[in-house]
Amino acid sequence: MFRTSLVISKVVGTVLVGGLAAYLYLRFKDTKKYKPYKRKKEIFLIDNLEDYESFINTVRIEKVLGLDCEWVSFSGKRRPVALLQLATQLGQCALIRLDRMDSFPKSLQDILANKSILKVGVAVKEDGKKLHLDYGLVVNGCVDLRHVLNRVRGIYTCRSKGLQGQAESILGVMLDKSNRIRCGDWEADDFSQEQIEYAANDALVGVDIFMNLILAKMWGKKPDINIEDIFTVVDETEFWTFTRSLVQGTVDVNVGGPWNSKNPAYKGPQLTNDEEISVKDKETRAYVLRQRPLYYNCYLLAPDGESLCTCDIKKAEWYIEKGLADKVNDDPFTVQLKFEPAGRPASKDDYYLQEKENICVVCGSKDSFVRKQVVPKEYRRYFPPSLKDHASHDILLLCMSCHVRSTQYDTTLRYQLADECNAPIDMGSGTKQLSDQDLQKVRSAARALLNPKAKIPELRKTELKKTLEDFYGITDFSPEILTQAAEIEYRVDNKNYEPHGKLVVRYMDKNGGLHTFEKRWRTNFISTMKPQFLPKYWSIHHRHEQHKQLEVIE
Ligand SMILES: *[C@@H]1O[C@H](CO)[C@@H](O)[C@H](O)[C@H]1NC(C)=O
Repeated sequence: MFRTSLVISKVVGTVLVGGLAAYLYLRFKDTKKYKPYKRKKEIFLIDNLEDYESFINTVRIEKVLGLDCEWVSFSGKRRPVALLQLATQLGQCALIRLDRMDSFPKSLQDILANKSILKVGVAVKEDGKKLHLDYGLVVNGCVDLRHVLNRVRGIYTCRSKGLQGQAESILGVMLDKSNRIRCGDWEADDFSQEQIEYAANDALVGVDIFMNLILAKMWGKKPDINIEDIFTVVDETEFWTFTRSLVQGTVDVNVGGPWNSKNPAYKGPQLTNDEEISVKDKETRAYVLRQRPLYYNCYLLAPDGESLCTCDIKKAEWYIEKGLADKVNDDPFTVQLKFEPAGRPASKDDYYLQEKENICVVCGSKDSFVRKQVVPKEYRRYFPPSLKDHASHDILLLCMSCHVRSTQYDTTLRYQLADECNAPIDMGSGTKQLSDQDLQKVRSAARALLNPKAKIPELRKTELKKTLEDFYGITDFSPEILTQAAEIEYRVDNKNYEPHGKLVVRYMDKNGGLHTFEKRWRTNFISTMKPQFLPKYWSIHHRHEQHKQLEVIE
């Protein structure tokens, strides 16, 4: 009996080692065969409405978006989606930190719900369901890349139909998955550069694969062009018409067959039963409230047992997960750090040691909350690190109606500051990209002339030609020039662009200092909102005394 099992385990062992060697060989071969995924891209990291506005004012969302989501799992339990990635076929990618957003702009809800804007990715429908479950966001127009691949038979053979497998055989590139663990904390205060790259790539590669598959089907062969230049060789309208017909019947359909999430053999992203909800609730709201509590009142202890601060449960869990702390109590949830923290509280009455209640600090309502940044993020982001460190003091919970009211008061102060600091809040000349009117005119003239269906009156035609002739300084232009003009890049970077927030912070730093500026926002909040339920040690002078002392010593 003993002998037999020993032999068996030997055999199993040999098979395992052999299998591992074969696997490593194949992986190594892959590594040599595929280039890392690199692409021209523009990333917008978004965690507040202002960031979103600047994204949506820069980027034109047209027919297709690569969509992907990231979330944190703790003890095998999935936490709400933390990050939503949306990528355009032009390489612009929004990383929207849903867990940080106070509310979701109507335009984001519209884009997600709009069936005419396809959302592409692997298991994208499942991502859509999670977004609905966690935040009430409705996602329509989902097209699973595995469906599209099935319809483009005979051109590609994929090792697997996952995103990685498709990226390899369709684009000939490798996604860097080695950072999966290091990049796993999608609720971290700040993302690392590689985390940002990684998140953006997952959405960008989805849309690249999609464009490539459609083109392959259109041409009946692997397209030998750089997919970024697709519309220099393919007519845009024709392409999208073809796309629509190719994806017909797959939109908003779960992938069946062996990839069905109900199939026990399925190993991909899974939903538990309570997540299998129908997306019937089409009610669109301008704001989606968060219902889960924001302050969890966990305690963080130093290695010697001294109380350091109260903190959010996700931060406490993160310390444990990374092996940086041990849990020492369940209720209240308390963790003890294994390393000496950078700072210790100045006194026992420190603000950071106070329990924070889950109520609206203005009216005491206990329903739903949004985070209020007392000093708006558009300014705080330009503060020096020493001031940024203690930002949590200036994040308060408000109920929806108080939040809306206080945002209106903030707007008044913003405009005052704009005046005072000569820092205009404008969406025109202040934006990051300017459209060059002359170039735009040339482009649309060429497009009109190239359009075979346009019935342009002769007189107008002469005008259009004159526009082009003047621009190029020629009298007779070839079809090549016409095509070139039709594709001309008319958006130029505005080198002088400086956002309102940055200008204000720079001005305030020189005129009165940032402590005074911080105090001004806090005072603004107190005097306009008259909050009745502020946490006990909340103060408009918070941290200023301590900083002053430090400055004297230095
Ligand atoms: C949906 O998107 C399409 C394509 O971008 C756009 O033309 C249309 O106006 C949008 N519909 C709604 C209801 O927003």
